[in-house]
Amino acid sequence: MDKLVVRGGQPLHGPLAVSGSKNTALPLLTAAVLPAGVTTITNVPALRDVNTFSNVLRVSGAHVQYDAATHTATIDATRISHPEAPYELVKQMRASFYMLGALLGRCGQARVSLPGGCAWGPRPVDLHLRGLEALGATVDLDEGYVVARAPGGRLPGGRFTMEPSSVGATVNLLLAAVTARGPSRIENAAMEPDVVVFGNALREMGARIEGLGTKTIEIEGVDELHPVTFANTPDRIELGTFMILAAMAGAKGEPFEITDASPEHLGDAFCDAFRATGATFEVRGTSVVVTPPVNIRAVSITTGVYPGFPTDLQQQWTVYMTQAEGASTVTDAIYLDRFAHVPELTRMGVRAVVRGNAALVEGGFPIQGAKVMSTDLRGSVALVMAGLVARGETHVLRIYHLDRGYENLEGKLLACGADIERAQYEENAAVPVEA
Ligand code: EPZ
Repeated sequence: MDKLVVRGGQPLHGPLAVSGSKNTALPLLTAAVLPAGVTTITNVPALRDVNTFSNVLRVSGAHVQYDAATHTATIDATRISHPEAPYELVKQMRASFYMLGALLGRCGQARVSLPGGCAWGPRPVDLHLRGLEALGATVDLDEGYVVARAPGGRLPGGRFTMEPSSVGATVNLLLAAVTARGPSRIENAAMEPDVVVFGNALREMGARIEGLGTKTIEIEGVDELHPVTFANTPDRIELGTFMILAAMAGAKGEPFEITDASPEHLGDAFCDAFRATGATFEVRGTSVVVTPPVNIRAVSITTGVYPGFPTDLQQQWTVYMTQAEGASTVTDAIYLDRFAHVPELTRMGVRAVVRGNAALVEGGFPIQGAKVMSTDLRGSVALVMAGLVARGETHVLRIYHLDRGYENLEGKLLACGADIERAQYEENAAVPVEA
């Protein structure tokens, strides 16, 4: 199994390049199922999740080619002969659940495994199911699978108000509604940039959608969509991750450039909190130039739906706050128990406790390297960030979590002066004991 070995203390120097967005690439790949033909998506990051999703598409009958050298995915969805997504793949990656909306929209039927558990949870899909029923689908459960059908082979369309706002449910409902017979409306829809870029791709395919980026999205169903070539957007969560890393581990006072980014997707809440710590940044086109502060101020945050502070950055923020002077609170209002990384951080000497849906952090104390276990994607990158500022050596285990969402992270960090390498280890190596 792979781990990353990090020796902390080296000041980092830019530039760092941002890869394509994982959470936009996945809906874009799903959208390619809707038109019969060959869709090309560029700037698709080379990630485990992309590989998994390519296999999900292949099961349905699509032919998928992914060129990691050019970050280009080509999906030939001329024939979707098997409207299914199997448990073995869906359990690896929840976003496979998007196939429910896509197969309903393309074939009028779908049999998709329920996602099952996650590192934190619960992560229900009730909004997806009730939303599709509101569009006119019949939805049944059969041996862990959702079986959805459009009466007469095509959804009539309908109205649905979601509570809470859900990125995944908004994606799933858009996939099903764009080829419905009649109009549809989604209230309290997700406004995340991932959804807006995905929705714009559907519009380029010929879908008729108004209100993307607002809480009310109106869709006029069309008979069919046509394939497109579409550029995926840069990853806003990787951008935020790198901005935090630059502020906490960059050479003090030295401008640190982050390139190929989408600064407009950060949202005000993150930008305001970031500046409040004493870090400054300047946007230069698709670059963000961060100036690391000499002293980091403790700033408490609470996550929220876009344009609130992204829940996908709260674990990284927690590590940032270990380097700040004083106490801060990191509250997650989206996922109330996304804190499995905190006990691992305390093994490095971090002074943090979890109270309900908040981590209380006492910053300003030195942290030491240790063996630590990745529990989920963003938790894994948070442990790597801690290792980069810890004294000594940190072994971040189970980095298959990290490989889901960060392309070639160790290569990118090595180029910034980090002392980091990927190594193999035995998860259950026998511990030498005296006979
Ligand atoms: C997407 O997950 C992202 N994943 C997550 O990123 C991200 O954390 C999340 O949005 C929130 O921004 C992808 O885009 C592939 P939600 P999703 O449905 O769609 C509740 C990462 O690290 N809810 O917006 O599953 C849910 O419990 C991943 O890249 C329901 O109640 O998130 C949560 O409290 C982790 N019923 C809230 O909505 C439902 O049917 C937001 O979840 C669905 C969701």
